[in-house]
Amino acid sequence: MLNAAILASGNGSNAQRMFDLTAAGTLSMNIRLVLCNRPGARVLERARQAGLPSLCLDHTTFPDREHFDRAMIAAIREAGADTIVLAGFMRMLTPEFLHAFPGRVINIHPALLPSFPGVHGSADANAYGVKISGCTVHFVDEIMDHGAVIAQAAVPHLDGEDADALQQRIHTMEHRIYPQALQWLAENRLVLEGRHIRLLPGNRPLATPPDNALVWPPLEAGF
Ligand code: GAR
Repeated sequence: MLNAAILASGNGSNAQRMFDLTAAGTLSMNIRLVLCNRPGARVLERARQAGLPSLCLDHTTFPDREHFDRAMIAAIREAGADTIVLAGFMRMLTPEFLHAFPGRVINIHPALLPSFPGVHGSADANAYGVKISGCTVHFVDEIMDHGAVIAQAAVPHLDGEDADALQQRIHTMEHRIYPQALQWLAENRLVLEGRHIRLLPGNRPLATPPDNALVWPPLEAGF
């Protein structure tokens, strides 16, 4: 069972999906804290409605990144979380933060890394005109959008589809691969071999593969 702090800055649709799957018992995760850096962000209201502990630390009220991250470390430890789930958290973390939770910080990025890192990954991929975009779940290291990849979904740009529709389909895949990756972590099935992550076999049947997308490793039932 993971003891997680979900860090988010905005809408929180990925966080919502985790709230729903933990409540349903599909995702083996205790959500100890929902931590947000923007007052008024929708994710805070979502957490309140789900009855989960939440905290807003407005980064603009701290003198620098180090002080802000130290306040987050303290709040996360106090909440009893040891796994950090970045779900649309739009701030770089300091080395001090990463050293506080070694190998336990995970992120979702709305592009197929290593292409299109950064805060506008999805828009950048679309502006480039790629035929296949997607999303990536990865461990976080000190370089932005760089850590070892756990899972990816490749989402093709359909003819005539506008940026919003494509974005929506990528989001839908985020909502599937991110909880699945966390469940693999909860089951201790992710083995780090250099930059490569080997997924140990499980005993759940596979899910129906999504239309118009390729997910690897394949999703299991419930995700
Ligand atoms: C997601 O698309 C996530 O991949 C992205 O922010 C969005 C948050 O959506 N994260 C990044 O761009 C991190 N570099 P949500 O608030 O609806 O979950």
